[in-house]
Amino acid sequence: MLERLAPQSPDALLALIKLYGADERPDKIDLGVGVYRTGQGDTPVFGAIKAAERKLVEEQETKAYLGPEGDMGFVNALKPYIFGKDDPTMGGRIQGMQTPGGTGAVRLAVALAQKAGVERLHMGTPSWPNHGQILADIALEVVPFKHASPDGTANVEALLAAIESAGPNDSVLLHACCHNPTGIDYTDEEWDTIAEAIAAKGIFPIIDAAYQGLGQGMEEDAYGLRRVLGAVPEAFVAYSCDKNFGLYRDRVGAFYAMTETPDGLDTVFSNANALARAAWSMPPDHGGAAVRLILRDPSLVENWLDELTQMRERMRKVRGVLADAGMAGSVDLRPLGIQNGLFGMLPVTPEQVKQLREDHAIYMAGSGRINIAGLHMGNIRKFIDAVAAVTG
Ligand code: LMR
Repeated sequence: MLERLAPQSPDALLALIKLYGADERPDKIDLGVGVYRTGQGDTPVFGAIKAAERKLVEEQETKAYLGPEGDMGFVNALKPYIFGKDDPTMGGRIQGMQTPGGTGAVRLAVALAQKAGVERLHMGTPSWPNHGQILADIALEVVPFKHASPDGTANVEALLAAIESAGPNDSVLLHACCHNPTGIDYTDEEWDTIAEAIAAKGIFPIIDAAYQGLGQGMEEDAYGLRRVLGAVPEAFVAYSCDKNFGLYRDRVGAFYAMTETPDGLDTVFSNANALARAAWSMPPDHGGAAVRLILRDPSLVENWLDELTQMRERMRKVRGVLADAGMAGSVDLRPLGIQNGLFGMLPVTPEQVKQLREDHAIYMAGSGRINIAGLHMGNIRKFIDAVAAVTG
């Protein structure tokens, strides 16, 4: 039986973690998987998380099951940060549930959309490779459009054309901020136009918000998501705390649905619970519980937001140095200065990516995506020189 299985290649991004680990060159640079790194190259646990974890050890009285929706204290405490402080439930029209990371939330969102009758999903490409893998796995048809323009800004026309071409059972997947892999976000004015176009066409939006706070700020990064939700009757949001709370391996995410009226939520969540139960039964508790403890304690909130600000500012500084360098060989580094979040894309060939890895110990995704946070003042010159050497 099992010999009928065809071998699959390992996830290219995750495979890089192992390749990098095995490289013994002391000046190697990891620009692969999307984890934040400090100026010293570390990915420490947030101080606020450590404090919340200590509290959790003291206060948690049981580890008995919670149910497929997970920790609703966590899910609800996040709402004002995502949907705004004024009316974070949109008049009772938004509800959520916990998921294993942002991946779980995306998986649940697209599977539930498909169950509700969505037949095709419009998606800007390139996108996070796992978007494509999840959509292929549930056999939902993807209609691609170009996310980026050659000058390093968003190709809004392509998105608007995709929306305009949409059929009645179509959905569109949007990145709320810090686009993965390009770092290219829509401006607020562009979001205004996009929200109106989505509303006018009646296409169902699914918004992936995996990097809130890593671009311009917690509020700023929520502009587009809130603008779209304010314009449409229904939407799904897939949220991740893996990056903005540094909880990566603890897998902390949430899925939110907004329905036309509050009484639509029960049916949506009875379906979401059933899908979750069949897939993972319940999400892991620990990280979500730690986030809940932070969000209920104003001094921990302050610590968390300070740490997030430091991360954001460090990445802006790295982006500034790259942009100031101008050209590195044939690669124009200037657009990186106006892009957001952990990622940016270099216009390099797979062969040049290989050369950077083999000749210069610089590790990045085969697509040319770099993790900006893998750079710091101690290695950025080496990186720019290496890009110049392989593309010059
Ligand atoms: C990334 O794109 O590097 C992250 O989102 C990690 C992942 O799961 O792929």
